[in-house]
Amino acid sequence: MSVREEFDEWASSGKDRGMEERHWHTAKHVLARMPVEAGETVVDLGTGSGYALRALRERGIARGYGLDGAPEMVHNAQSYTDDDAIGYLIGDFDALPFEDDSVDHVFSMEAFYYATDPHNTLREVHRVLRPGGTFYCAVNFFLENEPTHEWQERISVDMTLWNRQEYREAFRDAGLYVAEQDAIPDREIEIPPAESFPTDEWERREEMVDRYRTWGTLLTVGVAP
Ligand SMILES: C[S@@+](CC[C@H](N)C(=O)[O-])C[C@H]1O[C@@H](n2cnc3c(N)ncnc32)[C@H](O)[C@@H]1O
Repeated sequence: MSVREEFDEWASSGKDRGMEERHWHTAKHVLARMPVEAGETVVDLGTGSGYALRALRERGIARGYGLDGAPEMVHNAQSYTDDDAIGYLIGDFDALPFEDDSVDHVFSMEAFYYATDPHNTLREVHRVLRPGGTFYCAVNFFLENEPTHEWQERISVDMTLWNRQEYREAFRDAGLYVAEQDAIPDREIEIPPAESFPTDEWERREEMVDRYRTWGTLLTVGVAP
């Protein structure tokens, strides 16, 4: 199945809002760290319901573009705002529809690992960022976060499973400086007491603690020279 087929179905069945709710636990901390200034332009790769740009508009950014490969996601994201300064576009991470040096910051939450050619996507991010621009790339599917690995069996799109070092190296290979890398725990998801395990989803409580509290979301921050 293609990204379009898989995620169109998610959007049509309302899963985009459920994702937003879950991802917000850590996305809000990633967004809070972004050094956005009034008047700047931000691109959100794999925007889903488009919540990140709506939040950044409250901090004064001038323009936001949310790119997504699933037309139904784009359609939903458009319907959640009437803000003319935010545009949601259908497109692929392989060819970003922006001029060279035209974007101040790129954000991406739980989407980068779906890129068909992640190295090319990083080169594209570098190309569109102005010098000093940043890429805030957040993923919970990475090698050290073992409990997330089974996600690949639940989804029909091939995913990239890198470790923390591979993220850093790939950013550098694409010409981005790595300014920061950090695991941001999800402290909001409720973890039931030990006697509740196994649950429908989890065999052992330790796995759930590892998944959310120890690892959570891996943030790698790249800066364009
Ligand atoms: C798991 S969702 C995350 C959505 C949102 N960022 C969030 O935090 O809730 C991943 C999104 O990335 C989009 N996507 C995946 N691969 C893509 C690609 N190669 N090009 C463009 N969009 C892609 C999907 O359509 C989907 O909406």
